[in-house]
Parts: sequence; structure tokens; C-alpha cells
Amino acid sequence: MSDKTYPPSSDLVRGAHVDAAGYEARYAASVSDPEGFWGEEGKRLDWIKPFTKVKDTDFTLGKVSINWFADGTLNVAANCVDRHLATRGDQTAIIFEPDDPAEDAKHITYRQLHGHVCRMANILESLGVRRGDRVVIYLPMIPEAAYAMLACARIGAIHSIVFAGFSPDALAARVNGCDAKVIITADEAPRGGRKTALKSNADAALLHCKDTVKCLVVKRTGGQTTWIDGRDYDYNEMALEASDVSQPAEMGAEDPLFILYTSGSTGQPKGVVHTTGGYLVYASLTHEIVFDYHEGDIFWCTADVGWVTGHSYIIYGPLANGATTVMFEGVPTYPDASRFWQVCEKHKVNQFYTAPTAIRALMGQGNDFATKADLSSLRILGTVGEPINPEAWNWYNDVIGQGRCPIVDTWWQTETGGHLLTPLPGAHATKPGAAMKPFFGVQPVVLDPQSGEEIHASPTEGVLALKDSWPGQMRTIWGDHERFEKTYFSDYKGYYFSGDGCRRDADGDYWITGRVDDVINVSGHRMGTAEVESALVAHAKVAEAAVVGYPHAIKGQGIYCYVTLMNGVEPSDELTKELRTWVRTEIGPIASPDLIQWAPGLPKTRSGKIMRRILRKIAENDYGSLGDTSTLADPSVVNDLIENRMNR
Ligand code: WT7
Repeated sequence: MSDKTYPPSSDLVRGAHVDAAGYEARYAASVSDPEGFWGEEGKRLDWIKPFTKVKDTDFTLGKVSINWFADGTLNVAANCVDRHLATRGDQTAIIFEPDDPAEDAKHITYRQLHGHVCRMANILESLGVRRGDRVVIYLPMIPEAAYAMLACARIGAIHSIVFAGFSPDALAARVNGCDAKVIITADEAPRGGRKTALKSNADAALLHCKDTVKCLVVKRTGGQTTWIDGRDYDYNEMALEASDVSQPAEMGAEDPLFILYTSGSTGQPKGVVHTTGGYLVYASLTHEIVFDYHEGDIFWCTADVGWVTGHSYIIYGPLANGATTVMFEGVPTYPDASRFWQVCEKHKVNQFYTAPTAIRALMGQGNDFATKADLSSLRILGTVGEPINPEAWNWYNDVIGQGRCPIVDTWWQTETGGHLLTPLPGAHATKPGAAMKPFFGVQPVVLDPQSGEEIHASPTEGVLALKDSWPGQMRTIWGDHERFEKTYFSDYKGYYFSGDGCRRDADGDYWITGRVDDVINVSGHRMGTAEVESALVAHAKVAEAAVVGYPHAIKGQGIYCYVTLMNGVEPSDELTKELRTWVRTEIGPIASPDLIQWAPGLPKTRSGKIMRRILRKIAENDYGSLGDTSTLADPSVVNDLIENRMNR
């Protein structure tokens, strides 16, 4: 790791919301008096009934409970749309940039957004959706996804977005997991010049759902779909008739706003629950401060709304702040590797927020794609999703930011609702690869993984945990509070455990070293190895499977599968293909195995536990440090696996 630091320019510091002294003062205030600090920040929203209580949180195992602003009432859609009408009704709220650059971009003003959201709200109500009901959204990156989210929020329904890259099975599991009344989908999702048949995926999923589930279909391409009367509803037709008058529901601050399923280290994905007041305060404040957002800026987060990044930093944070937010339907490399930079030029983007995997992929295509574009509008760059290697960081800094744009490397999680560790653009000299400092109110600790003791001295390394709550924190796992407590609060008593390892350097700055559990990070997407394993063993020819991550030049981590076949089944290239397709169908293309190694045996302890530590080392081509193998039931399987390590 380089020791070089990159201070912001004095111009930038002068115009920034927070400078170095400001950070120190506000951070100190936020942790010494959370009630006072958040009580003040809570006022950035419009409340129907103002809160009188601020923080009521407990991390004690057995009685974990997290409440912020609990007696206040508000409506998220009113905060993201209605309250801007008087001052910026004609300002663009959403710039929609379609997959195909030849198709026109759309500029949707706050006033137009209001009309769309109200009509969608009325359509959902006409389908029987009521306050507290769940609605699954399975849409491309089109403005209707924003309308759908905000329409749910308007009527007090809870949305659960399923990324359009998930398979019908994964979709059905999520619809059933939260007992949704309606799925909102589209005919097809154009992406990178190809089309995913979303409606037919939804049809396949619906075969495994209660027959009362309705399907609202948005027209995106006009592609053909099969239609079941009484189950399927045409959004575009209904929108022509729907009223654009809709009263926002008065919601409690702790009423759920959305559920978002995410992978864990064991079994089934977890339904992460975020609530109304604290989440919006946190998304809105972090959006403003971390990206140094100012009135009139054009903000672009390249994530998909199917991930938490899209929730907090395409929709809720920016719209709560009255920003202009870019929604991009496509991919970084279509029609070619200049697309991101063309879009930055076209829409004069000021803040640009993306993932290290995209940066690495584009860096590999050479500088010309970027230098051809006029990137002078850019002021702040951001990254999220996985540790960024210094080489990618430097390329981002030099070629995209042209040395004048601070890079905010934001560490957070689906569970945290918003950024927890990040430099602030006007306050900190950044370091390539470091997530740097806690955001206001955030109290990170480094714990000794064995003893669970807090390590106070720096430099140090250990596991990363949080000592106290922040308003954007998840409240529970949908339908399973016990699992919530067990997952996050039982390994280290009294702390929220992130599942990440970290280093704190001599300056007290934080560096994320990656997951310490059986979760891997593929292109910035979290994948539970257990999920891929259970998909593999569901195949008739597979007896057993063990899945680990391994270093991948573009994706960060790739998916490495050790597969033991059923007796009598012969390994073959066809079978490799078949298993790869199988996993894509079971979970979705994002879970596609990168490497499959046939394993006649897996290294197990005498009690039958698979020793993943060893499998990880072999996948990493690191045989020198296999560690203690003496507890293996049959040590010879290790040599066999090493001999047959996949060539790459
Ligand atoms: C995991 C959370 C919320 C952002 C999108 C991913 C890793 C996230 C960073 C970063 C190093 C990072 C962590 C974390 N991660 N941001 N800046 N540097 N690692 O959300 O799917 O909930 O995954 O992503 O390992 O635990 P997610």
C-alpha cells in the first residue's frame, strides 16, 4: 500500500460543506451527543407530526431493538417529491439514459414525477394493495422503477426490489418470502444491446406463487408477452385512466419502507428491513455530505436499483435533497467502453459513483475511451462495493478525475442503509484503497477476532464492528428477528458485527480487507457460497459441492466450485457447461461459476466438516501455507486437489 495521500484542492475545500475542522467538530458532537446531533439532522425532513424522541437503541443480545425518531410521522414520497414542487417543480428530478444511445434520454421534472407517482399509487390501490402490504418490483433501470418505489412509499406499502438479473426461482423465493400481493415487471429489459424476457421470467416465477398474486406489466420494448386475464394488468393502459391525485399516507418513522434480500454466509437470503424516518434522514444526509452535493448538481450513481446502492443513492438520498439524479439502463461497455464517459459529458455529470469492478474493466480497455470525452463537469468521484486496488484507484484519479476530483471510497452494506466509512471530499486527504474515516455518528471498532476485545492502539488489524447505532441501520430480518440477532449481534456481544475484516493504520484511517465469513464479493455483488453450493447439489449428477472465492482480475473475486459427482457419473466439458447453466437458472447470471474443479473427495475433518480454509488456499494457488492438515480424515485428498487445480 502506498503512503501517498491526496489532499483536496483549496478551491474544493472552500466550496465544500465540510472541511477538516468542520469534520472534527461535527464528528465529536455526533458521538458525544447523538440525541442532540440527530435531533437537529432529523429536521432536514418534513414531518407530519414532529418527533420528540430521537434515539432508542439496544445492541444487547436477546433484546436487540433499534428505533429512531420513533414517535414522529412522515411520508417518504412526500419528502422526495411533493415538498419540492413549490420551489423546483420544473427542475429535472430524473434523467433517464436508455441502453441504446440512439434512443432519446428523458428528463422528468419533479412535477411530472409527482403525477407519475400518484398515478402508480392509485393503480396499486386499485389492485388491492394497502398500507403494510408487500410489493415486489422486478424491473429494468427505467423511470417506472422509481415511480413504483415512491408509489409504494406514498401509500405505505413495503417494496422489495429483485434485481432483474435474478432467475425465476430466485424471484419466486423472494415473492413468497415476504408474501407479496403484486409483482411489478416489464415486458423486456434491454441491457448491453440484448434483452432479458422479464415478463416471461415473472410468469415462470408465478407458477410457484400463491394464485392471488397479481402482475402489473410495464411496457418497455413492446416485445411479445403471454397474458393471463385477471392476473396480469397493463400499467400503461391503466396509467391513462388513473387519477393523479393521491394523498400521501401518514407513516410512523419506524414503519417498514422496504425489504431487500441479500446473501448471508448460510442458506437462504435474508430480507433486510429498513424503516421510514431514520433511513431517509441518513440517506439524505450522507448523499449531501459525502458527495458534497450542492443545489443544481447532476448526480450519477451507476448502480442498479435492485441493490441498496440504487435505493439510497439513485432514488431516496438524491430525491430527498431535490437533486437531479441520472438513471442509466445500460452497461459500461455498450456500445463500447466510452459509454460511461459519454454519458458524463452528455448530461454534464458533477458527481459520479461506481464500483471498482467497472473501473478495472474500463481501465483494461485503454485511456482513449475516456480521454475522448469532455469530463470537465466532474467534481467528485466515488466508489463502492469492494476494496479498490491502488492501480484502479490511481487510474480513476488520473484519467477520469484528471487529478482534480476527490475520490470517496465508501464502505457500507445493505444492512447499514448508507455510508459508514468514507473520506469527505473537502475534509480528508485520501489514500488509494482506504475507506478512511467514520461518517458522523458512526463508531467503528476493531475487534480481536479470537478474544472479541476492542483494540484501541493503531496500527492494528482485526474484524470491523460498530459500537452503537446510526439512523440508517437495518431494524430486523423480515419475519425472523432471532436470525437478525444471531447474525449480527451474537459473535461479539454488544456490537453490530459487519462480517468484514479491516486494518487501522497509524493515522487512525480504516482499510477494508474483505469478508471474514463465507460470503464472497463478485463484481461488488454479495454472494453466499452456501447458496451456490445448494444450487449445485440440487443437480441430479452432483453428490457434493464446496464453493469458495478466488482472486479475479476484473470481478475482484470469482466463484470457484469443487464438485464431487455421483457414483458412476463421468466428468466432462459438457457437464461443466451444464452445471454452469444450471446455477444460472437456479439463482441467476450473477452466480455463474467461473471455475469448476472435479473433486473425487473434499478435505474434511473427522467430524465431517469441510475445511474451506484449505479449499480457499488451493483456489488461490497458494500451497505453501495450507496450515495444519493433520485433523483431516483423509489428508491425501488435498494432494489430489492440488494436482488437479484448474489452470487459469
Ligand atoms: C459488502 C456489502 C452497500 C454497497 C454495495 C454492496 C463490501 C462495500 C466497500 C468498500 C471495501 C466494500 C464489504 C461489505 N464493500 N463497500 N468501499 N471497500 N469493501 O453492498 O451487497 O451489502 O455488500 O461489500 O465486504 O460487507 P452489499
